[in-house]
Amino acid sequence: MTPSEPSTPPASQSRPPVLRTISSPPLPAASPLGSLKLDYLQQPSSLKIVTRLTPPTSPELARPNINSDTSKGAEHPSNSLICILQKQGKPILCEDSLQEGNVPRIIECPFEVEVARDSANRPQVFGQGAWSKVYQAIVRRPNTVSSASSPHSILTPPPSPQTSVPLLVAVKTPLSNASRTVLRNEAITLSHLTSTPLHENFIIPFHGYVSSTSSLVLAPVPLSLSDHIGSRARLARENHPERDYTDPVLGPGSWLSLAGKTTTALAWLHDVGGVVHGDIKPGNILLLPSRSSDDFAFDPLLIDFSSSHILSSTSPISNTLSALTREYTAPELLSPSVLRDPSAVAKTASDVFSLAVTLIVAATGELAVYSGSVLRRQYMATQGWRILEFVKNGEGGMRVPSGGVVERVVEDAVRKVDDARIHASRWRDLVRGIQKEEVPHREMQDG
Ligand SMILES: Nc1ncnc2c1ncn2[C@@H]1O[C@H](COP(=O)(O)OP(=O)(O)OP(=O)(O)O)[C@@H](O)[C@H]1O
Ligand SMILES: [Mg+2]
Repeated sequence: MTPSEPSTPPASQSRPPVLRTISSPPLPAASPLGSLKLDYLQQPSSLKIVTRLTPPTSPELARPNINSDTSKGAEHPSNSLICILQKQGKPILCEDSLQEGNVPRIIECPFEVEVARDSANRPQVFGQGAWSKVYQAIVRRPNTVSSASSPHSILTPPPSPQTSVPLLVAVKTPLSNASRTVLRNEAITLSHLTSTPLHENFIIPFHGYVSSTSSLVLAPVPLSLSDHIGSRARLARENHPERDYTDPVLGPGSWLSLAGKTTTALAWLHDVGGVVHGDIKPGNILLLPSRSSDDFAFDPLLIDFSSSHILSSTSPISNTLSALTREYTAPELLSPSVLRDPSAVAKTASDVFSLAVTLIVAATGELAVYSGSVLRRQYMATQGWRILEFVKNGEGGMRVPSGGVVERVVEDAVRKVDDARIHASRWRDLVRGIQKEEVPHREMQDG
């Protein structure tokens, strides 16, 4: 669960009635995976029960090189879940078989799933959002395939040979009937993106949809960017070495590397995936330990496509704007008329704005974005194009000095007029250029 992000469940009407601001206390942290006692599933009641299984412990994701040029696309990854399921003759996504309205077919999950419980029989939860609760769960693959032979395996297999190897997964379940439609929409987007080249590098691995419970089965990644920013900010407050005050709270190299990786992911999402995310914020970016030796030791993966839409789809989209976290939402989406408009949706330019806010927060360490009362912060959000001015005068503001790297990276992404904002792929290139300039500069300073 994201520490300082909201967990307000939506009301029973079609969408949550009020815009959320950042004020709720964090949920208790999930237990360490190793200490789980697995038990029979009680809740959610319609997920399938399997016998007690011991989860393997070392998560590992198959990840191709992300330095390829995403705009050209790439060979379809032969190690995808799709290929594994095809071999088993299970229901699969047919990439080009679009349904009416240009909507891709949903990948159905072939697993049996058991929610994990602790020694007090409490279901283990990864987090909760406006629409859903995300449980830790165990799956059992069909006996014909062991995870050792599965290139899509998310967990290192245990040493002893087994015919059926359990995997740990995250199961996103709806909080209400209204949430079911939202999660089905998310399954459609994830099914589409999972058939898009290089998805492994940018989005959470998606095992499939369980239509009986309207649940999504995802790879488990227990750390979010929100958690990471929060812990770095706490550390900085405890140690407060004054000479670092003008640097981003993540550290200058890490921050720039994060900016490079997230703008690359957004460019891929918009240009290759053809998808608008609609709810980019630190809690919707999970961090996987990186195999490469970057300054930022994680690879960010986008999650939570509950407010997303596929640009080529012609089927109607429902307005989920009121479920968004106001401080991260582009100001043009916050006017009462837009919020009331049933056909209003986020755009690529509003994703760009939200990622810029996310990066500013990764510099200031202030997950609430703006300082002051809820009302004051709500007002500031509606004037979001003034964000640099606002944050400079708030907590952590000296970490965004005028003319500094953070300002140079984000200023074109927070323009008032959405059409004037930088496009994600140009933004990615801009960040790469700044990275090239900054590396020798920092080496000289360090030396
Ligand atoms: N695959 C995952 N692995 C581990 N934790 C996860 C995973 N997916 C989601 N979570 C956790 O559950 C929380 C809620 O998930 P998610 O953001 O997808 O739900 P939501 O109801 O759509 O939320 P929102 O309020 O942002 O709209 C996340 O913030 C994260 O902490
Ligand atoms: Mg979320």
